[in-house]
Amino acid sequence: MPSSFLARLGVVQPLVLAPMSGASTPALVAAVSNSGGLGSHGVGYLAPQAILDDAARIRALTDAPFVLNLFVLPDEFEEDEPAIEFARATLDTFMERQGLAARTSRPERWAPRFSDQFAALCEARPAAASFTFNLLTPAQVGELKRRDIAVIGSATTLDEVRAWAELGADAISLQGAEAGGHRGSFLHRPEDAMIGLFALLRLAARAVSLPLIAGGGVMDGQGMAAAEVLGADVAQLGTAFLACPESAAAQAWKDDLTRAQDTDITTIRSFSGRAARGLRNTYVEAMAGVESRLPSYPVMNALTSPLRRAAAAAGRGDLVSEWCGQAVGLLRPMPARELVARLLEERMQALQGLA
Ligand SMILES: Cc1cc2nc3c(=O)[nH]c(=O)nc-3n(C[C@H](O)[C@H](O)[C@H](O)COP(=O)(O)O)c2cc1C
Repeated sequence: MPSSFLARLGVVQPLVLAPMSGASTPALVAAVSNSGGLGSHGVGYLAPQAILDDAARIRALTDAPFVLNLFVLPDEFEEDEPAIEFARATLDTFMERQGLAARTSRPERWAPRFSDQFAALCEARPAAASFTFNLLTPAQVGELKRRDIAVIGSATTLDEVRAWAELGADAISLQGAEAGGHRGSFLHRPEDAMIGLFALLRLAARAVSLPLIAGGGVMDGQGMAAAEVLGADVAQLGTAFLACPESAAAQAWKDDLTRAQDTDITTIRSFSGRAARGLRNTYVEAMAGVESRLPSYPVMNALTSPLRRAAAAAGRGDLVSEWCGQAVGLLRPMPARELVARLLEERMQALQGLA
């Protein structure tokens, strides 16, 4: 049976697909929601109209509830000119050496304007919306609640859990240090906010009475059951779905994930200017010595976009951001619907074993 939080949203199975910008697609989200779980779509990179279009695509594929997820960012960004020039020169030289014809360019904007994305999300009116990288304002939380959109705040530390609770979030998404993709930390430096999911879950469960959605290194039903035993309402899985045919991850990225060892996974700042977990590949090793000289998110993310596009088109997984969590060795490439069925079966068996 799903928790009361999930039941309130109309979700019938205890599983959440993590939002994954650049990898989640309307087809993946709908496949999970149609299987009874709660599909989440990471729309943080999308322009407002594209957010509305993707929400319409999801609705064309499912009547079940889903989540939209945004990065909470300022509307305008600091431009560190020396860092930008250094990054452009470094990236252009790197692409030339790797035989890629692409070169960096200066985009019109470094990222979509958050307030416009937020307005589009409100208009799209998903059952729930989740947010990472920072807190919303109280007015934004009020706006979501007026529209009956449940508010899920992401936290990587106990202080962040408390901050979302005080703001009136309906549920907290815990991102353990094991998690793939960008770290959502906003009150602490990423290196100080590497709390493992076991620790974070127990700390949060003692501190707040809100529903907890637990993510980071959960790849099978045993992990889902363990998260629930530790106090989670439900587990949230990202990496587990990356190699599904419905995922937008480039084929070379999917292939590399199936060969990855736990020791190949590290925290990387050089792709986007913000700490994120993924595979240590050729690009990551080449940039390791200059990470601290690169501009911060989203400027660096925009500057590496031509490189990542060209590398993906050339099938060069070793040059793209291959985000994944620490338990990627448990990956099972299969259609999302089949994966959800397996996960739920494993979870049931694990819980019965405990009983
Ligand atoms: C490719 C990828 C993209 C991600 N994009 C987002 C995102 O847009 N928003 C977000 O809140 N979290 C994002 N995350 C983090 C996930 O929501 C979640 O915390 C993580 O996948 C859980 O750990 P796991 O990958 O080990 O399952 C992303 C993770 C991955 C792997």
